[in-house]
Amino acid sequence: MRLTYRYLDLRRTQMQRNLVLRHKITQAIRNYLDGEQFVEIETPILTKSTPEGARDYLVPSRVNPGCFYALPQSPQQYKQLCMVAGLDRYFQIARCFRDEDLRADRQPEFTQVDLEMSFLTAEDIYALIDGLLANVMEASGHPRPALPLPRMPYSEAMNRYGSDKPDTRFGMLLTDLSDLFVGTQFKVFATVVGQGGVVKAINAKGLAGASQGTIDGWTTTAKEAGLGGLAYIRVQPDGTWKSPIVKFFSDTEKAGLQERLDMQPGDLVLFAADKADVANVALGRLRLLVAEEAKAIPENTFAFTWVTDFPLFERNAEGGLTSVNHPFTAPHPEDVRLVESDPLKARALAYDIILNGVELGGGSIRIHDADLQARAFRALGLSEEKITTMFGHMLDAFKFGAPPHGGLALGLDRVVMLMVGAESIRDVLAFPKTQKAMDLMMNAPDKVDARQLRDIWIQLDLPPEEPKA
Ligand code: AMO
Ligand code: AMP
Repeated sequence: MRLTYRYLDLRRTQMQRNLVLRHKITQAIRNYLDGEQFVEIETPILTKSTPEGARDYLVPSRVNPGCFYALPQSPQQYKQLCMVAGLDRYFQIARCFRDEDLRADRQPEFTQVDLEMSFLTAEDIYALIDGLLANVMEASGHPRPALPLPRMPYSEAMNRYGSDKPDTRFGMLLTDLSDLFVGTQFKVFATVVGQGGVVKAINAKGLAGASQGTIDGWTTTAKEAGLGGLAYIRVQPDGTWKSPIVKFFSDTEKAGLQERLDMQPGDLVLFAADKADVANVALGRLRLLVAEEAKAIPENTFAFTWVTDFPLFERNAEGGLTSVNHPFTAPHPEDVRLVESDPLKARALAYDIILNGVELGGGSIRIHDADLQARAFRALGLSEEKITTMFGHMLDAFKFGAPPHGGLALGLDRVVMLMVGAESIRDVLAFPKTQKAMDLMMNAPDKVDARQLRDIWIQLDLPPEEPKA
């Protein structure tokens, strides 16, 4: 209803406030970047597919039968080509389009504060964005954060927070207990540790009284994340432990748990035993649920952190490699040879900026050498032919001499959402779309005339309509 009559919904004070603040934030960003000698450059909306990992929105061409433009998932290639062109400091408040599954912090079209600069290091980007975000906080009526903003390597984020977007507003960190349980009598842990996996736990402070139903819900979450189950210990008011598994633990194991997890009466300890990445992600999700249940997340707190040193590649479902960031990201200089020899070990010069567990933005130092870029494409399994048809223009451009360059994009909608304390980016967009990517007010997308379709050489081949009940 709100979206169908959006013009009435927007009359509400809260919505007006959100849109005015969005304007103020955008203005502050433009002023800041202008002061830093950045130039705002518009790049095309009708363009060619660019690999940001989502599905493209396609636009058929009338004058080039059978050919399609793609709407940009980001201006990534254009901004890099601006660097080759000698436009050393580019920015754009850029509309981006991604046909992906929608969530509270994802819309099919959204806005990036997109920027790129030449002759820089990651340190220059951190300093630039630290200053930009401090100005955004100020423009939003919040205190400026202490600078520099904290940083954390990706491996630490995964090991201690179980997430590449760690919410650092509260503790309950993941604790590794694997060494404690080498040779334990508890079969589940013994098997996992014996196979090179890990046993890790979080201490859900004060949640010993959680209902069985609540714990069952968390167990379901744990299983969805790939765990075989969710072992736990409740610490009772008299300090004794209540748990189906404690009977298997030796005195040394119990003493080790007590010490490492600082178990106090009223605490609830949750265990995950599996391969490190599965255990981390499962506990990372539980950590958020548990903190919410315990009301352990402080309000009106803004906890920024940079996550650095992302891996360059990850395995995809088909067993091949995909870029964690995108294929233009430079490998860490020490890891260049790993691109072929041990690609999953290669670190990237890539970074994300996180606020309260939300990824605000991300970027990287780019490859600026045609040979290394071709090696990166080959590692992704692209044939020489595909490399030429998809990215020949980038490789050609680099051959004419490209300066070292890098950049980042912030999700403007997410920035504003967090600044106004909204639950969804829909609340900071004048005319957002639904979960099914519909504009209910305009009724878009909609059917078009057969003539319009003929003009663009399109014939529909739809599945038969479901009979109406
Ligand atoms: P990335 O894909 O990480 O990087 O996007 C940057 C930021 O854009 C925001 N964002 C979204 N916001 C709303 N709805 C969406 N569907 C959506 N998708 C992404 C997020 C995200 O952090 N070209 C690179 C940047 C670079 O390397 O410079 C890029 O697009 O806040
Ligand atoms: P089982 O021996 O399978 O009955 O498991 C004993 C306890 O360990 C139960 O509470 C399970 O939920 C829990 N459990 C089983 N597998 C795992 C796992 N991979 N990580 C953590 N706990 C587990």
